[in-house]
Amino acid sequence: MKKILVAVFVLAAFLVCAPSYAADQTFPADSGPATIDVSKYPKEQQAAYKLFLDKCSTCHTTARAINSDYATPAEWQALVDKMRHKRYSGIHGAAQKTITDFLIYDSSVRKKDLLAAKLKAAAGQGESKAASATVSSSSMTTPAAPAKN
Ligand code: HEC
Repeated sequence: MKKILVAVFVLAAFLVCAPSYAADQTFPADSGPATIDVSKYPKEQQAAYKLFLDKCSTCHTTARAINSDYATPAEWQALVDKMRHKRYSGIHGAAQKTITDFLIYDSSVRKKDLLAAKLKAAAGQGESKAASATVSSSSMTTPAAPAKN
């Protein structure tokens, strides 16, 4: 009897503590490459890349961000802010800005065409809308941070 109680307790503890995180959901981007060749990036972006690998791999593969179609500064700002607000994200203070800046820089290199197309589309919508452009994802649950420009 005691053994069963212990087993039930251990199972309950596991269910409570097990990362509810992102394990239950997968994204198409998850199956793509999980690293970026940053050898030609500026030194500070190479350092920021390490922070990105560290902080953005806690709950899901870094492939999810690397192969996503987030590209504009507004999209990355909102996305990283959303991730920071997730429970136990471990993303604090300066790390948020460093990672956001890295993802913006990376998009300007690897997603140049996509970025140009998105910025053009945003500009076509008029200045005010472009300024408040946020993540287009429908699974967005946390309100985006107000645009600071
Ligand atoms: C505390 C756990 C956690 C951390 C840390 C985390 N994520 Fe996530 N991430 C999630 C979960 C859960 C989802 C799926 C649900 C959602 O989109 O909110 C997700 C989804 C995503 C998506 C897909 C979103 C979409 O709807 O298109 C991207 C891109 C992403 N994360 C990038 C990042 C980046 C970049 C970082 C580092 C700054 C990061 N994540 C850190 C938990 C986390």
